[in-house]
Amino acid sequence: MQRTLSIVKPDGVKKNLIGELIGRFEKQGFRIVALKMIHMSKREAEGFYIVHKARPFYGELTTFMSEGPVVVMAIEGNGVIDKVRELMGATNPKDAAPGTIRADFADNVERNIVHGSDSAESASFEIPYFFSALEIVG
Ligand code: RTP
Ligand code: MG
Repeated sequence: MQRTLSIVKPDGVKKNLIGELIGRFEKQGFRIVALKMIHMSKREAEGFYIVHKARPFYGELTTFMSEGPVVVMAIEGNGVIDKVRELMGATNPKDAAPGTIRADFADNVERNIVHGSDSAESASFEIPYFFSALEIVG
């Protein structure tokens, strides 16, 4: 059984897409094993996206991720990491396959509604960034 970390980003929360996104994950048979709404500080967003520290978009990305509340969740299921990435669609909504979350709802490459861990290694950093062992059920 595998776990991934997903985030409804500030634009997704503003567009009232929390239920839509959770619904898409649950319809795949995946289980939400941890869930909360938080408003990250700039520093907290910088820590989460530390892997992108050297990228030119790091400043804008972390300002965006701290502009309003987000919903963070840990999701469990067989193959959940790759499947959630598939449901999300490509980073740039212009490249995202029809019917994916980003194709359906995202405005641009930065304001792209949703995050999902890109590997088991990423998930093992990202889930404990937001949730203690006691906050994860099952
Ligand atoms: P995420 O980590 O949020 O799930 O997205 P991702 O794997 O599809 O994309 P990644 O390369 O990890 O980039 C992280 C987030 O940074 C913003 N971004 N902006 N301005 C730009 O060219 C640019 N490129 C990426 C997006 O919000 C992206 O999801
Ligand atoms: Mg990524």
